[in-house]
Amino acid sequence: MHRQPVGSINDSGHLVIGGCDTVELTKQFGTPLIVLDEAVIRESCRLYREAFRKHYPQGQVVYAGKAFLCTAMCRLVEQEGLFLDVVSGGELYTAMKAEFSPEKIFFHGNNKTQEELEAAIQYGVGRIVVDNPYELRLLEPLTKKKKKPIIIHFRVTPGVEAHTHHSIQTGQSDSKFGFSLLDDTLFKEIRNVIRFPRLKLTGLHCHIGSQIFDQKAYQKSIEVMLRLIKNIKVKTGAVVQELNFGGGLGVRYTQDDAPPSIEEHIEIVTKTVRRESTALGLPMPILYDEPGRSIVARAGVTLYTIGSIKEIPKIRKYVSVDGGMSDNPRVALYDAKYESVLANRFKESQTEKVTIAGKCCESGDILQKDVMLPKVKSGDILALFSTGAYHYAMASNYNRLPRPAVVLCKEGKAEVIIRRETYDDLIARDVVPDHLNHKVRIRSR
Ligand SMILES: Cc1ncc(COP(=O)(O)O)c(C=O)c1O
Repeated sequence: MHRQPVGSINDSGHLVIGGCDTVELTKQFGTPLIVLDEAVIRESCRLYREAFRKHYPQGQVVYAGKAFLCTAMCRLVEQEGLFLDVVSGGELYTAMKAEFSPEKIFFHGNNKTQEELEAAIQYGVGRIVVDNPYELRLLEPLTKKKKKPIIIHFRVTPGVEAHTHHSIQTGQSDSKFGFSLLDDTLFKEIRNVIRFPRLKLTGLHCHIGSQIFDQKAYQKSIEVMLRLIKNIKVKTGAVVQELNFGGGLGVRYTQDDAPPSIEEHIEIVTKTVRRESTALGLPMPILYDEPGRSIVARAGVTLYTIGSIKEIPKIRKYVSVDGGMSDNPRVALYDAKYESVLANRFKESQTEKVTIAGKCCESGDILQKDVMLPKVKSGDILALFSTGAYHYAMASNYNRLPRPAVVLCKEGKAEVIIRRETYDDLIARDVVPDHLNHKVRIRSR
């Protein structure tokens, strides 16, 4: 069974996350505020670990940092025994600043720069997931100074379409990511790598998309990938021992979502790996899974203060909050749906239908359309559930709104893990060129 939203209710009728009264949190830290329940993140990590231990001990969980990353999160993930997937120099830098073990880092990206690759090699990341021939041409000379070979995986698009929003589908052949299987570029490059002693190909990677419920898509992609591993052996002689099936498990945002549990997901995938490997006469590969959303989404709740309320008779009641698409672009991007409550009046019955609007200067900045809440008043606290993944990570300063703070709550204690941006942060990188340094008045004739 999938897991319900986080939180409980206290005697004051307030929403409680990680043992902390959310109304008190807003008084202490302000709003918008992203609250993460540490125990829930740890539980998700544990569920993955245990599922692998039970169904496929030669499996390893690699947290996809793109879902949410900061130095504290790196520490937490490493404590939980997970590896880390990064997709940019910035994520890599964050991990290194958190002293994450470099050999447990996998470096992804469809357009890694020379500088990013140099940094990855210098830090000694565990795997570079090569996305295309251009990247290989950048990599080859960079390996010259290294005594030990650089371990690489090749990312492949297996030609599998997962049922999810088209912007987060990545396994289909028409994708910017990875080597296509529609021509022989992959085989050509594998032959190249075999001749290149400083690069060591150990594995293949695929990622079919995100927020995936349908396990058949995983089964199909595993079949394609294992057949490919066999084909590579036959055609090039290269032995591929590692397979990364790329995360993507969906989570519950509303009651209409019914994803499989983490254990069901791992059981289905690993059974397919066993069955297909046996059928193809392949040894069982070392498996990597790269979940992001299913590790951290459920742990997060965003708290907003409600401000203006506009009722258009017989049409709609707009309730505006002090954040919006700047801290949650998912609605505008994917038409994402959520559940919410009034954190300060959690016990009261939901009697009116409202639309939650953000404060950005865009008509499209709507967080929830037509949701039921108790009769809303300005000053109420709105809690939007399941905002731990792809929220802070995708936040922007649109309209020069400072990004919210993130607090980690555990057993009634709340600690800031990302401080709230200030207006001074917003202008900290602004530069005024000399010719604009004095206020020059243009005279009107
Ligand atoms: C390469 C890669 N790995 C892992 C993930 C994690 O996916 P999710 O957060 O849906 O588990 C993504 C996300 O899109 C990705 O692009």
